Amino acid sequence: MKKYVINGGKPLYGTVNIAGMKNAAVGILPATILVEGVCRIENVPKISDVALWIDILCSMGARVTYLSDSTLEIDTSPLRCEEPPYEMMRRMRASYYLVGAMLGRYGWARAGMPGGCDFGGRPIDRHIKGFEALGARVRVENGIICATTDDGIKSGNIYFDDNSVGATINVMLASVRAPGLTVIENASKEPHVVDVANFLNSMGAVIRGAGTDVIKVRGVPRLHGGVYSIIPDQIEAGTFVAAVAAAGGEIVINNIIPKHLECITTKFEEMGVTIFEGDDYLRVSRTGRLRRTNIRAIPYPGFPTDMQPQAVAVLCLADGTSVVTEGVYDNRFRYVDELARMGAKIQVDGRTAIITPVAELTGAPVCACDLRAGVALVISALAARGKTEIDGILHIERGYEDIVSKLRRIGADIRIVTTDGEPFARAI
Ligand code: EPU
Repeated sequence: MKKYVINGGKPLYGTVNIAGMKNAAVGILPATILVEGVCRIENVPKISDVALWIDILCSMGARVTYLSDSTLEIDTSPLRCEEPPYEMMRRMRASYYLVGAMLGRYGWARAGMPGGCDFGGRPIDRHIKGFEALGARVRVENGIICATTDDGIKSGNIYFDDNSVGATINVMLASVRAPGLTVIENASKEPHVVDVANFLNSMGAVIRGAGTDVIKVRGVPRLHGGVYSIIPDQIEAGTFVAAVAAAGGEIVINNIIPKHLECITTKFEEMGVTIFEGDDYLRVSRTGRLRRTNIRAIPYPGFPTDMQPQAVAVLCLADGTSVVTEGVYDNRFRYVDELARMGAKIQVDGRTAIITPVAELTGAPVCACDLRAGVALVISALAARGKTEIDGILHIERGYEDIVSKLRRIGADIRIVTTDGEPFARAI
């Protein structure tokens, strides 16, 4: 059992390099199933969700080689037409992309129901609606999503009543090799949707409009191999902005796309953080008192739900009461009980949190209940007086590359310790 031990109260100074985007990588790796050839993928983040995708692809017969720390070569031509082990798939949310990718290549799919972070119910009805519009029959049986077609996927028109990042990507995957034109209306516009589309286009697909409400996919008979570089992780970069906001100091955040960060930086500037935007970097500092603000987490280009816990952690230390509304998930405030152990005063009513500021946070033993909740605890611990021990860190390592080394290099007092026995709070 590993945990993080953090001695807080030290401002952060130095430079941090942002890795490739987790949520793009977990879409692009299964998308290689659609390619008959060798894909070289650069800027791949070293996180456990990527390691799991590599295991899944290898279990299906793909040849996967690391050419460098962040470059993967994936050859899916020897793929066997069979489902990967259930145990692997239920460990990650993005396992649902296997359904879209297998339907696109084989015309049938079987994949375990997704696992990953638990924010209350996370249904897959919009994915199913999308597959059905492409002529698939889908049922869930014994924890397995089973999709079949008569003679392959067809093109179709899909209108999503409510948008879904995963369902948008899944319909692109399933339809990219279907004859004819598929139109996705009310599509999600997140940067990782665009990145998966760009990856597929660079392998010969014809997808237009990704990043807007309407995506058009003109099916092609096959995709060829090629080289692609994953975009930088908007949320990892935003997390370092939040870390400096909470702990103080000045850092340079390299390898970013400033446009993707505007929805995040605007809010942190309102909180009193100074941000200079370069071509591919940000210089971020916070010296004065943090200011209160209100935030509503909504789909892109709004403030991302995946930055909501980190922002709440920072607002605990502002100069007045803030209101944060979660507009995407039903239950993404479970972590506030852990923040309360550090002295935070947060009252949650449904999808709204009212944050009453405190003069300081104090170190405490806490447990990460999911990825972004876990990193919010890290941020609070960096600002807190005294020692914080964070359990459940496997959640954090699913999505943050080398976070301990990156924080240590900018002056944080954080280390990993290995202990025996059960965590003191249950990680889900
Ligand atoms: N939803 C449904 N039915 C569906 C699909 C989604 O009701 O069939 C609901 C969800 O329950 C949620 C909302 O629609 O309330 C939005 O879900 P969406 O499908 O957009 O999210 P996702 O594809 O499951 C991805 C990211 C999440 C990120 C969201 C929103 C991946 C693997 N996950 O999830 O990332 O929060 O988009 O941007 O790409 C994270 O990185 O911490 C994380 C949770």
